[in-house]
Amino acid sequence: MKVKKAELITSAPSLVQAPNLEGMPEVALLGRSNVGKSSFVNSLLNNKKLARVSNTPGKTRLLNFFRVDERWMLVDMPGYGYAKVSKTEQARWGKVMSEFLAKRENLRLAVVLLDIRHGPQKIDLETLGLLAEIGLPRLIVLNKADKLSRSQQIRAVGEAARSLEMVRTDVLTYSCETHAGRDEFLRALAPWLQAL
Ligand code: GTP
Ligand code: MG
Repeated sequence: MKVKKAELITSAPSLVQAPNLEGMPEVALLGRSNVGKSSFVNSLLNNKKLARVSNTPGKTRLLNFFRVDERWMLVDMPGYGYAKVSKTEQARWGKVMSEFLAKRENLRLAVVLLDIRHGPQKIDLETLGLLAEIGLPRLIVLNKADKLSRSQQIRAVGEAARSLEMVRTDVLTYSCETHAGRDEFLRALAPWLQAL
């Protein structure tokens, strides 16, 4: 699978304002603030300017819908767990996120980004627990792989798979800097985008 065309369709604050896309399969990007979700959109879709990236966590404030090859949607979401965001705001976002994940009809898969150097944190485990409750399939992407050597990357995959009780093939490595892991990710994604 190769990505040829990608465009931002719309940004929405929550499920009710989300676009009606008539059955187009959707994939949601989740992860802590600053883990690299927006960078991942740009790397995966070959366009440096599609999603806004920042050194300051909390950059993405809305659900951003990117249509890819007129065939599927990638949804960049605001990050969770940013300490400087007020408790009220974090709780509000928690509600928006769980409602979207539970009720969005075309959602096929959640891609959960983790920092390869840190592995899953408590808040990631809570999010994965929520996905299990909802019954939404998930893939794990260990991002910022360029920060580790190849052997450390392999070890990180093993550790994450073990601690999350997932098969290794559902835990991928990625670097938004070098784009390493892009082909493998697209290959893992393909089965989730098939027509139902
Ligand atoms: P929020 O929108 O706040 O939730 O953050 P985000 O998850 O969208 O992160 P964003 O893409 O804005 O990236 C955060 C920072 O991490 C930026 O400084 C990126 O350049 C950096 N970054 C993202 N991916 C990688 C990567 O694979 N390798 C390295 N070295 N840096 C990365
Ligand atoms: Mg972002």
